[in-house]
Amino acid sequence: PTFEEFSGRGVWRYDAALPFDHGVSLPEGDTPLHEVPRLEADVGVRSLRVKHEGMNPTGSFKDRGMTVGVRVAEELGVSRLACASTGNTSAALAAYGGRAGLETLVLLPAGKVAAGKVAQAALHGARILEVDGNFDACLDIVSELADRGEAYLLNSLNPFRLEGQKTIGFEILETFRDEYGRFPDRIVLPVGNAGNTAALYKAFRELVRAGALAEDEVPMLTGVQAAGAAPMVEAIEEGYEDTERWEDVETRATAIRIGNPVNAPKALPGIRATGGTAVAVADDEITDAQRALAEEGVGVEPASAASVAGLRKLREEGVVDDSEDVVCLTTGHLLKDPDAAAAAGAEPEPVANDTEAILDHLSD
Ligand code: F0G
Repeated sequence: PTFEEFSGRGVWRYDAALPFDHGVSLPEGDTPLHEVPRLEADVGVRSLRVKHEGMNPTGSFKDRGMTVGVRVAEELGVSRLACASTGNTSAALAAYGGRAGLETLVLLPAGKVAAGKVAQAALHGARILEVDGNFDACLDIVSELADRGEAYLLNSLNPFRLEGQKTIGFEILETFRDEYGRFPDRIVLPVGNAGNTAALYKAFRELVRAGALAEDEVPMLTGVQAAGAAPMVEAIEEGYEDTERWEDVETRATAIRIGNPVNAPKALPGIRATGGTAVAVADDEITDAQRALAEEGVGVEPASAASVAGLRKLREEGVVDDSEDVVCLTTGHLLKDPDAAAAAGAEPEPVANDTEAILDHLSD
């Protein structure tokens, strides 16, 4: 499709590129492409915009995949939906499953999911199983449940999820083109299971095929992982076709605490073919970037800030040029992980219940 052929709303405005013309919708998509002038000047690129996927109905990009995936589940007439999750997928599945009136089951790594996400899954009515293991173990189990016919799998192994997530790419390119008259040189995104990386690459290929985007206009896909969970970075550096599973992963950015990115075989060719790269960042660099975004009014969870942390690092290393137009993807909302936000931000100051005392305190 060309951009002009798209109709509908949010994700479904791009129905020409989706398997249906409407889905189970809350609705999702149409997220802001924020200007961040201080960060742009600080990083030192021609332009920097932040595509804030935290502004979707359940606070993450997962809604774009679920609106399509849950529609497919309805068409198939399945009785139970399931996913493994570091949190956001479970929140989105619970909400969209609830909307469709379907039973949902989510498997979470015990003690490693941010509070906001568990609260969402709980209130939207998912049955929550806390597994004594990491996300990759949860995904192994839920895949087996799906293979045995116990549930319909709605992780990003499900290709219909990625169809919906392609619309992140359509929106970025369309908005950027409308505002600047050109396409961005680079899209920087956090990588966990590498679903978005694969989905964006598919979106670009479809646009090239349709003649809506020239081959040399395809943005460089640039993935960022936390240093404690970076099998994709390793695969890019070592030239692997697929990642080698990391058994022990750890990072403050719990959303991307993943050692076996299942979409790596689809995502690695995308990073390579677009001339992109992958980089690992330390947890403190992630928190610094989370603060820098928040200072410009853009509230994101730690995993999301990895994109900005990675861009900073690649600029410092000279991999990203100062002439580039860059879009960073921020994948989830600040309130997803209130504990991380509170720890990264200012300390509340206890004061007396008295105006004079407060004035004294403020003048200290
Ligand atoms: N950012 C956030 C906030 C996420 O929740 C995830 C994945 C990613 C980035 C990574 O995206 O997998 O497309 O590379 N969260 C999944 C979940 C694993 O269960 O919520 P990816």
